[in-house]
Amino acid sequence: MKSFNPIKRGYLVLEDWFNLSFTPAWNPLYHLGTLTFFFLWIVLISGLYLFIFFNSSIHGAYASVQQITHGQWYAGGVMRSLHRYASDAAVVTILLHLFREFALDRYRGFRWYSWFTGIPTLWMIILLGITGYWLVWDLLAQYVAIGSSRLMDAVPIFPEAMTRNFLEGHLNDRFFILMGFLHLLGQPMFLVFMLWFHVRRLSHVSINPPRGLAIGSFIGLLALSLVMPAVSHEPADLSRVPATLHLDWFYLNVYPLLDYWTAGETWLLTTSVTLLLMLMPWLPRKRTGPAAVVDLNHCNGCGQCFDDCPFDAITLQKRTDNSHWEYEVVVSPQLCAACGICMGSCPSSNPLRRADQVLKTGIDMPQFPLHDIRRQTDAALAGLQGEIRILILGCEHGFDVTRFNGPDTVGLSLFCSGMVPPSLIEYGLKKGADGVLVSGCRAADCYFRFGNRWLGKRLAGMRKPVLRNRVDPRRWRMEGASESDGAWLKRELDAFRDSLRELKAQEPSPERQGESHV
Ligand code: HEM
Repeated sequence: MKSFNPIKRGYLVLEDWFNLSFTPAWNPLYHLGTLTFFFLWIVLISGLYLFIFFNSSIHGAYASVQQITHGQWYAGGVMRSLHRYASDAAVVTILLHLFREFALDRYRGFRWYSWFTGIPTLWMIILLGITGYWLVWDLLAQYVAIGSSRLMDAVPIFPEAMTRNFLEGHLNDRFFILMGFLHLLGQPMFLVFMLWFHVRRLSHVSINPPRGLAIGSFIGLLALSLVMPAVSHEPADLSRVPATLHLDWFYLNVYPLLDYWTAGETWLLTTSVTLLLMLMPWLPRKRTGPAAVVDLNHCNGCGQCFDDCPFDAITLQKRTDNSHWEYEVVVSPQLCAACGICMGSCPSSNPLRRADQVLKTGIDMPQFPLHDIRRQTDAALAGLQGEIRILILGCEHGFDVTRFNGPDTVGLSLFCSGMVPPSLIEYGLKKGADGVLVSGCRAADCYFRFGNRWLGKRLAGMRKPVLRNRVDPRRWRMEGASESDGAWLKRELDAFRDSLRELKAQEPSPERQGESHV
């Protein structure tokens, strides 16, 4: 029985509401990383437009931004607003992305790397926003500049106190051009590098959200830009202390702390929070199970597991055992998430094979090998009674299917639905189940990224290994259910049982039945 986690449960309910409004395919909560990429594209394109008209000198910057905003409101003004609001939207999606990984416990164990590299990436984006506000050179920019200088002065790496430079009006064009360079080139290039680093350990990474979601988000940003255009404050004036400022809390949230704390205290807080967030995968640590193991006697180097691995843990290399096959696969234990998807994708993972002793396959999970899965399936089916007997193959990260165990139903819990070789369904039916239900994570939300997607394709005959045509499609079903979807899954199970009962009623009597139903 899984322990109750209120944060995870609450988040799953929220996702459920979004699924009802957007459908799982378009649920923005399933596409937070790709939406962030999409917003960053808008920021980049609108930024390039603004750059054409921007004057990067300290005396010309403000006037050029005013001209862009009001002189050509229909183009430059809209671009400026898109630049601002897409940047804000990116921070919102990043924070939701961060919270989602935390709430669903997808930040520890083998995922430490993505989490650890995500935090500095978030800071990089915030720094990019800060230099952007600086370039407008209005009263808000002045506030940011003085606050930033106070923070810099607390770090003993600059020869002169920067704050004094500002207050004495020594800010020159060279410094302003440096800011422009950082915002327009230096920081974006570094961000691209950090984003590449962030997703480096994942395979088949998609950086584009579904088209409908992208178009909808863009229309939303455009509407906001037209209704509430982004404007500047009054021009910077170092002899004035601004009375009221409209802060962008997504980017400038650290600065108000300087009204109450010293720069040192502000550094202490931000660095401590950052370090704490980065260390979270080890507080406490989550152990990943033993890595997949390759058995070259049963591997022909077809590369299906290499292609299916969601975490780039499998590579193909030239054969080392003098066999006539060209390639063999190698598993990196550091990258392996122990999801078992590779086992499900191996053409040798076939429980229907005759094996007098131990059933072997090309790539297997030492903690739950195919042989044990077959043995447990046999034992589970042997204990079933009743008119309609159902075997449920469930993912341990979705709804716990063993909770449906009863005289006529038995659940077998696997690491991931992608661990199911299609022949296991055929095997279950052959060994006495009237129907096999596979229950993975919710659609579009696999704990191991692609388990339910790959299995769905295998069962639809679109990805190897496929389910053989001779298996009656009315005798198996594939569903997706999180731990809060128990009532719904129960209804699906009951409906499946009813359909199997009807099917049985239509079948010829056993005496006239020549073959098994498989
Ligand atoms: C700064 C902008 C960010 C962008 C554009 C971004 C984007 C992405 C993308 C596209 C993925 C791959 C998702 C997939 O294909 O399954 C991903 C994975 C991930 N991100 Fe981010 N991310 C960002 C920041 C962060 C932050 C701040 C965190 C948290 C500290 C974070 C934590 C993760 C984790 C844990 C994964 C792994 C998910 C998995 O293994 O299923 N990311 N990110």
